[in-house]
Amino acid sequence: PRPILLTRHGESRDNVRGRIGGDTVLRLEHISFEKFVISFIESLRASCYLQYCSEDQHLAFAQKCLNVNLDAGEIYAKKLADFVEKRLKSEKAASIWTSTLQRTIITASPIIGFPKIQWRALDEINAGVCDGMTYEEIKKNMPEEYEARRKDKLRYRYPRGESYLDVIQRLEPVIIELERQRAPVVVISHQAVLRALYAYFADRPLKEIPHIEVPLHTIIEIQMGVTGVQEKRYKLMD
Ligand code: G3H
Repeated sequence: PRPILLTRHGESRDNVRGRIGGDTVLRLEHISFEKFVISFIESLRASCYLQYCSEDQHLAFAQKCLNVNLDAGEIYAKKLADFVEKRLKSEKAASIWTSTLQRTIITASPIIGFPKIQWRALDEINAGVCDGMTYEEIKKNMPEEYEARRKDKLRYRYPRGESYLDVIQRLEPVIIELERQRAPVVVISHQAVLRALYAYFADRPLKEIPHIEVPLHTIIEIQMGVTGVQEKRYKLMD
């Protein structure tokens, strides 16, 4: 049996701010106040010091600052790359599929040795006029829309955007291609899209799709064998 590995992108800056849609990069780790003060003092020192130092020293300093401000989403990307490289070591024909949005492409970037394919059909549900808003903002500024979605999340279509049913429909070619593959595939995508893909393989009813939990920083491995579909989950970090 060949595995299909499903995962969301590493946590993005919009995830942290609770904003939907968008095309942001991965989130900066919350650093402790103490670390922040240290890095701030270091940058102050550096602004005087760097005027007198060589390019190498300059680089070393930049490296040190970067280490203080590690990117949590990027930590996941590295952990995912380690996992994939170990798990698919002997699978020469495996491939990595992402959406066309930055956060999935960046999450895939540390994975080496496998071809990468970008699918527009794997992009997150299009939130139309609500793109970039928080749920609180939608509730406050567009209460009818908020209520309509709450009542029927599966069929609700964002003004100038999509519904879950639209997403399910646009995923059809992806599913056909996934079924056709003989080698493992790693799909790095988004919550709404992965809900629909997962539901297809796990045979979950349509009405459940918008509510299925697809946590961040977790790989869902689907094995398609003669005896049916088996599932394993790997939580790589919080
Ligand atoms: O931005 C969209 C989210 O990933 C989808 O979540 O359908 O539960 O609002 P939601």
